[in-house]
Formats: sequence, structure tokens, C-alpha cells
Amino acid sequence: MTLDVAAVKADFPLLGREVHGTPIVYLDSGATSQKPQAVLDAMNRYYETINANVHRGAYHIAELATTASEDARRSIGRFIGATDEHEVVFTKNATEAINLVAHAWGRANLTEGDVVLLSLLEHHANIVPWHQLAKERGIEVRWIPLTDDGCLDLDDLDRLLQDVKLVAVTAVSNVTGAIPPVRRLADAAHAVGALCLVDGSQYVPHLATDVADLGCDFLAFTGHKMCGPTGIGMLWGRRELLDAMPPFLGGGEMILDVRQDGFTPNEVPWRFEAGTPPIAEMIGIGAAVDYLEGLDMEAIRKHEVSLTNYALRTLDDRFGDDLLIHGPTDTAHRGGILSMCLREIHAHDLSQVLDQHGVCVRAGHHCAKPLMRELGVTSTSRASLYLYNDESDVDALGYALEEAARFFDF
Ligand code: ALA
Repeated sequence: MTLDVAAVKADFPLLGREVHGTPIVYLDSGATSQKPQAVLDAMNRYYETINANVHRGAYHIAELATTASEDARRSIGRFIGATDEHEVVFTKNATEAINLVAHAWGRANLTEGDVVLLSLLEHHANIVPWHQLAKERGIEVRWIPLTDDGCLDLDDLDRLLQDVKLVAVTAVSNVTGAIPPVRRLADAAHAVGALCLVDGSQYVPHLATDVADLGCDFLAFTGHKMCGPTGIGMLWGRRELLDAMPPFLGGGEMILDVRQDGFTPNEVPWRFEAGTPPIAEMIGIGAAVDYLEGLDMEAIRKHEVSLTNYALRTLDDRFGDDLLIHGPTDTAHRGGILSMCLREIHAHDLSQVLDQHGVCVRAGHHCAKPLMRELGVTSTSRASLYLYNDESDVDALGYALEEAARFFDF
């Protein structure tokens, strides 16, 4: 299947707008993706026709709302190859999903001297919860180093795995786009009796995902980067692990019974979904995965690889050594993320000039400060590509970068 990008673009109302009198060129999907009309319609339909709380009311629209939100769980499960939809827990975002593992699984299973092995590619969301646990429990946080081209250096993996109870790694770096060998890491973790958590925030929206192929035990990802709304994230976990985990947040919906002397938690996954859930957002993310499946994830990945190759080639032709783009050059091992430094221009200054030409990129440390230190930079301007971007967007980026070079006098 080939992606009809013009037709895809037309599905996203925001991409039809202008900024500063010029058509928008949205290159910040790593931060959040735009939303197709189908997702907006599904959420509006919920509010307009079946708005009611879920798992509580016995009346008609409450039952319809419950069914719609649980259908969304089933869609998510199918999208990531889960065999049991009850292995999908809805959270607020990927950060909360990782925190859920750290608080519920980590507190129950990690003690002083245990090691959590992270990679230097991690987003703060997959670092800070482990630092917090280190302080609370005396566990050690250990790091997989990087090679010169920004991939994971696994030469010393056997030694790094000593005393490790959890390997927690991103499947795509949000800074360099590097795609680490998650399956190899998961297998290596299991070989020493450890578990593997994957941060799929930048992976699940872009590559066909099958949790069995990844070989991991937990997969955290977020809705708003995959054409869904903000406020909804997902944790997939192997059923027996989730069943053994105590609840993280307490309140409504996560209980079977509450007495004066205590409570009995609900079954998985509702045990981890305290309070009224984000119902419209569950329905929205369900519609988003239906939309992505309709386009075919393999076709989306193929399109992004081709567009990333085009961007790397044409930007290099245009700017040569003036433009440093971090990360691996082989697009078989990278996503469509281009973290750029144009000579010495500060990333914030650069992104402001790009904005004047309608080009939206993220500037800063991208919530990955340990990685930025390894790269020897404090900030980059990051363009991130998605299914609705095409060569004209990359050309617009190239033109805006040339304007920036002129503005800053070189
Ligand atoms: N984690 C998101 C990013 O990389 C917000 O921009």
C-alpha cells in the first residue's frame, strides 16, 4: 500500500491554516501530532449523543458510553498485537504509564542493590521515576552508553546487566530518531531474569507495533503523538505482571469493595484507572488507531523512511557542514526526527526565524538532558516528520533555514 499524502493532509483541518500569512508547515509531530477530522468527529459524537459516565449508570446512554470506551481499549490492544485487551491500561500520558510501572511494579519488586538499566537516549519521563525510586529504595540507575554515531553501545552489555531487574529503554529517540535494538535488549534482560519496559512514545505512532515481536514486558505510549487527543496514554503489560501489581492511585473505579478496615482492588485493567477516566479521549484514541490502521502502518513507515532520506540528502546538499543533523544516517535505524544545529545559531533564535516562514519545529533540550550532554549541545532545533508531511514541507524547511542563514549573516 502507498500513502496518498495529499489525501492524508486533507484529513487534518489544522494543516489548512496559515500562520504569519503563509501556509503552515507543521514539523513538530514528535511533540504532538495533528488530529484528523475522524478523531474530532468521534469525540464530538460522544459529547453530542452519548455523554455519560462509564461503568456506573444502568441507563441507555451510559451503557453506550461504556461500550464505546471499552471498544477503544480493544482497538488499542489489536493495534499493538496484544492477545488480551485487558492488558491495556489507560493513563493520562506515557509519563504516567512509566510512573505506574515505577510505583506499582517497582515498589513491590525492587530493593536496595537492584539495578534499573536505562539508555542514554531516554526522555526524562523514563529517567526521573527511576531516580525517585533510587532515592526511596536505594536502587542503582545504570546507563547504556552511546556509540559515536548515536546508537547504543552494547559491547559491554553482559557486565552492564549484572544485578539488573529492569531494562527500561526507548524504542525511538525523541532527539536523534535512533532506533535501538529493543528485541535484543529484551532477550538479554530476560536471560538474566530481568524485565524490559519500552517507552514507545515515538515508536508506536510510526512503526507497526507488535508487543510479541518487541519481546518486552511493558510498553508505554501516548495518544496525542499518534493522531489522538491529549490527556490519554496507554500502558500495555503482560497480564500476570499487571495482576500481581498493587494499585498506584486510589479512588473510584479501582475498587471491588471498600470497608471501614480497608479495600479490595478491582481487576486489571480498571485497578489502575482510578476516578472518572478520560472517556472522550479513550474514544478519540480508538478512532485514531482505526484511522492509522486504515492507512496501513507499514505504508506510513515506508513513507517516513523515504521522506527522512530526502530530508537528509537535500539539507546536506544545501548546507553541507553548516548544518549538523544529529543521529544515525542509516534510516533503517532511525525515525523521521531531525535534530539540527545551524552553525552557532541558538536553537530558539533559529526556530523563531523558521516560524516567520510558517515552519513549526521544537527548540530546546527536548526533555532529554543526559543525551544532550552526550551530544555536547544544550539545545537543538528539531523537525519531526509524520504521515501528513511531504517533500514540499522539507523544501519549505530548507528555504526557511536559508533565510535564517541570510538573517544571521552567513
Ligand atoms: N516528549 C515530547 C517531545 O519530544 C513532548 O517533544
